[in-house]
Amino acid sequence: MSVDNEIVNQSGNLPFSKILETRVSRRKVLSGSLALAASSFFAPSILASSAAQAATGSSKPLKSTLINFKPVAVADGSGPWPTISEDYQWHALLPWGEPLQPDGPMFSWPPTAANQQQQVGIGHDGMTFFPIQGASESEANSHGLLAINHEFGRNTHVLGKANPESKGDVLTSQYAHGVSIIEIMKEGETWQRVKSDKNRRIHVNTPVTFSGPVAGHPLLKTPAGNAPAGTVNNCANGQTPWGTYLTCEENFNGYFGATGEWKATSAQARYGFSDKGFKYGWEKFDPRFDLSNAAHFNEENRFGWIVEIDPNDPKSVPVKRTALGRIKHEGVALVVARSGHVVAYMGDDQRFDYIYKYVSAGDWQQMTKVGKSPLDEGRLYVAKFNDDGNGEWLELTIKNPVLAKHFNDQAEVLTYARLAADHLGATPMDRPEWTTVAPNGDVYCTLTNNSKRKDANVANPLAPNADGHIIKWRDSGNRLGTQFTWDIFLIAQDTHGTEHSFSDPDGIWADPDGRLFIQTDGGQKDGLNNQMLVADTTTGELRRLFTGVTGDEVTGITTTPDRRTLFINTQHPGNGDPAKTNFPAKPDGKTIPRDATIVITRKDGGIVGS
Ligand code: FEO
Ligand code: CA
Ligand code: CA
Ligand code: CA
Repeated sequence: MSVDNEIVNQSGNLPFSKILETRVSRRKVLSGSLALAASSFFAPSILASSAAQAATGSSKPLKSTLINFKPVAVADGSGPWPTISEDYQWHALLPWGEPLQPDGPMFSWPPTAANQQQQVGIGHDGMTFFPIQGASESEANSHGLLAINHEFGRNTHVLGKANPESKGDVLTSQYAHGVSIIEIMKEGETWQRVKSDKNRRIHVNTPVTFSGPVAGHPLLKTPAGNAPAGTVNNCANGQTPWGTYLTCEENFNGYFGATGEWKATSAQARYGFSDKGFKYGWEKFDPRFDLSNAAHFNEENRFGWIVEIDPNDPKSVPVKRTALGRIKHEGVALVVARSGHVVAYMGDDQRFDYIYKYVSAGDWQQMTKVGKSPLDEGRLYVAKFNDDGNGEWLELTIKNPVLAKHFNDQAEVLTYARLAADHLGATPMDRPEWTTVAPNGDVYCTLTNNSKRKDANVANPLAPNADGHIIKWRDSGNRLGTQFTWDIFLIAQDTHGTEHSFSDPDGIWADPDGRLFIQTDGGQKDGLNNQMLVADTTTGELRRLFTGVTGDEVTGITTTPDRRTLFINTQHPGNGDPAKTNFPAKPDGKTIPRDATIVITRKDGGIVGS
């Protein structure tokens, strides 16, 4: 989702601009060629990086041995239908409204609440393929559960009107959001949804529980005493080594509004709450989402978390893991450090917001053995990027006197993680979206764009940053340390007008061979639809594998264990307008377009991305 939201970070954390004014001439950035600007800005460690040089166009990319497919040409990448490399093929799976079970209610538009509750949601985003439990090696690649996030659906797309007119309309919208867990199987060359007791919807009214330091805290209790329920604006995702799914609540503020007199607290303002939200109108028929309803005071603190779901237990209650902090969680990349600790990297997608890291208190296997979740006890940090190519992880802890001055306990620090990070002097970034960890240990994060940046700095070198960039870093101490070194991997603007043209990087995934899959969400240059490219992290070479349909966003990425099947999503095709595209129906000018998963394979059955 690309939200043109206001700037809610008023902390004034702009630690680089002052330093940089003494170091480099800002005129070069504002007027010189981009290559010149980039080379004057980059720290020496960055200039030493061949990948950065290649990817930013300051020298010719080396030929990749990892990427061999024929790319989609700029001239072919537009229109109402997807385009894929001629070495690949695709088919659509699980469109919005598909019944969860083969005998469930068929899609008809607009859906009723009763039907939508038993159908795949809209706004397909992050997702994970879990091989079916107990599968043989070959079955693991042809049979599994797909967990899919349903980030958002505009009222005009879901309901066929701008405003809900009844509680039923609001329920339809709420049931369209959340997560689907669906069992899928490969039959011949095509993947299908199969009947299963695992097939399940989790939505805005599904019972949930809280765990970790904020669980049971007064900040999560409402005067009405209503039990916690629901997850919303489920953007990107992660998965744990113990086989569960993580769904990330991003623009949760947009679903709240006020029917009566209400004035935002400073904390509410910092999270972007307003009296109309994103105009879903839920507050008119559901008091939970009415910020002016005193009985539902604090309801908004129950959103903005990372939620853990056991895909294999359809009766399990989703758990909000509060130790990972409350931000506009884009996604989470979770890895196991050499020590056995789990380490999670997370972006907070708003202009001038931050990048976070979580480290579990101990070895994840030892923690789970004694009945503790590695996601309940640990340390949360926020990133500060220094101009010399080094950086620091600043811990969000009440033990820090700077934070103890502003907060009463750790639960408050975590619930208001953005405010705590402001006090620590974290580096405001150009909208941190997905993170991913490459096989060499580097962590990559997409910074999608920032049209409001006025002061460039080393980590965010364009002002304004219309088209985004990708930053990478490497942590010290086998990933547990608080120091890191960093680099710019790529500046999207440098690719315009070439066959590599792309902008607004969002979804990103590093495969185990050193390829980087990059997905876009934003107005592309050179007439292109949103797209997915594959980069070689060593040579910087970039090739376009896929382009979506008019008005969509390409997002979500997961593969079978053998990496012969790739699943991605087209979100909001045509922005819901049937005059733009009727996907996945063939163009007819009338059929409502539906978000869907796209299953991609190499025609020769090879590894995807090769
Ligand atoms: Fe849900 Fe920041 O994209
Ligand atoms: Ca999106
Ligand atoms: Ca985006
Ligand atoms: Ca996104």
